[in-house]
Amino acid sequence: MSEKTITVSINGVCMTRTIEARMLLSDFLRQDLGLTGTHVGCEHGVCGACTITLDGRSARSCLTLAVQADGSEIETIEGQGSVDKLGRIQEAFRQHHGLQCGFCTPGFIMAITDLLRHHPLETDEEIREALSGNICRCTGYENIVNAVRELARERGPLR
Ligand code: FES
Ligand code: FES
Repeated sequence: MSEKTITVSINGVCMTRTIEARMLLSDFLRQDLGLTGTHVGCEHGVCGACTITLDGRSARSCLTLAVQADGSEIETIEGQGSVDKLGRIQEAFRQHHGLQCGFCTPGFIMAITDLLRHHPLETDEEIREALSGNICRCTGYENIVNAVRELARERGPLR
């Protein structure tokens, strides 16, 4: 069994762990670090439930080996806020009823974290297109779009 020692920053905390070289980043987060807010759905890169940010850009943790993240900064849903103090994206989801069962929600929120940093999101069409990499079985997406529209508008007017 091949092992490797990696050092990563997770939600601002630096950690060093020795892991199997074949371990997926999603398993590393959930099993080794107990960060179970990152959900695993399809494990094929399709559903987006496992989305985290890796050096500021959204990434599928089910398609990433943990060793590939060595030296990187990772953000997970646990870094967004807490039950007592929701992060801004979480609060927008709460206000607009952007979740039902909540299984997809961490992945959406981490994807939106990247989108708000790097994409203009100037129209509803752009918002829908940007969210198309994440699957939700419950909401019909409309309330998620409403939440993202408000977040995008905070940065400037939508067309
Ligand atoms: S669990 Fe990673 S994309 Fe579905
Ligand atoms: S809220 Fe249930 S899958 Fe999206």
